[in-house]
Amino acid sequence: MKLVTAIIKPFKLDDVRAALTAVGVPHMTVTEVQGYGRQKGRSSLYRGAEYAVEFLPKLKLELALRDEVLEQVLDAILDSAHTGDVGDGKVFVVDLEQAIRIRTRETETDALR
Ligand SMILES: Nc1ncnc2c1ncn2[C@@H]1O[C@H](COP(=O)(O)OP(=O)(O)OP(=O)(O)O)[C@@H](O)[C@H]1O
Ligand SMILES: [Mg+2]
Repeated sequence: MKLVTAIIKPFKLDDVRAALTAVGVPHMTVTEVQGYGRQKGRSSLYRGAEYAVEFLPKLKLELALRDEVLEQVLDAILDSAHTGDVGDGKVFVVDLEQAIRIRTRETETDALR
């Protein structure tokens, strides 16, 4: 199992959700976050003498997935969240050790269905 964390531009949520639904992902967690990347939150070229980092609003999506669907889910996110401008975001993938459905105590991939 994998845990995918995607940081995206907030206005892309509907597109990303539609793309994920289309590839059969019926669940996600969304959190409003703030962050910055290598432009340090500056949307245009560095103008002033003052050095300031700006936190920009982003959304963090978290999805626990079966290994078999990882590649198509990544494609769906990368396509649907893409504008080509800076700040489009990032996707992180880590191995997921366990998942448990609280109601039934189902584990592993049974808990992800
Ligand atoms: N290495 C990182 N670790 C944690 N969060 C990150 C990291 N890089 C980016 N982020 C998060 O993703 C958001 C968007 O990052 P962003 O797309 O600007 O990355 P970037 O490396 O600057 O790429 P680009 O040049 O395309 O803008 C940031 O606001 C931050 O929340
Ligand atoms: Mg950036």
